[in-house]
Amino acid sequence: MCKKIAIYPGFFDPITNGHLSIVTRGLEIFDKLIISILNNPKKAPLFSIDERISMIKQALQDTPNIEVDTFGGLLVDYVIQKKSNIILRGIRALSDFEYEFQMALMNRKLNRDVQSVFLMTDYKWFYISSTIIKEAASFGGDISGLVPEFVNEKLKEKFLQAKNA
Ligand code: PNS
Repeated sequence: MCKKIAIYPGFFDPITNGHLSIVTRGLEIFDKLIISILNNPKKAPLFSIDERISMIKQALQDTPNIEVDTFGGLLVDYVIQKKSNIILRGIRALSDFEYEFQMALMNRKLNRDVQSVFLMTDYKWFYISSTIIKEAASFGGDISGLVPEFVNEKLKEKFLQAKNA
């Protein structure tokens, strides 16, 4: 049987419980997921690529059929290079739809062999994103339960370092 590999791309700065829910449910559909972090030198992430890789690996250490990788350039080219034809994305509120629709249509224009598949984020994670979590954590807000506990600790360390710098 031919294995179905899907690429789950994003910045994952940092990984949240919303991302993890998409991974868990994605694995109910696909044989393997490659979680791929976009290496974009124009963005200034809070966590380095190595830190993000290591956090994703730690969060999914007991989950089989996962690979963590990075990519640059066009996503569709990377998908083909990884011998896949599927992009997996999570959709939260309706507000995500326009951006995701635009991206899916552009990816389709770039390569018709690549399909975008969307999973609805679990209602518990509907309002969270890495950005809003970083914002709350930067002001000392309690974000426990929204990210794995070790990620929560790493966020606290980061913002403490920034305060003492
Ligand atoms: O975590 P994000 O911001 O939702 O991830 C966006 C990502 C990385 C999936 C998107 O920016 C992307 O695929 N970039 C790669 C460049 C590309 O292929 N662009 C053309 C399609 S829009």
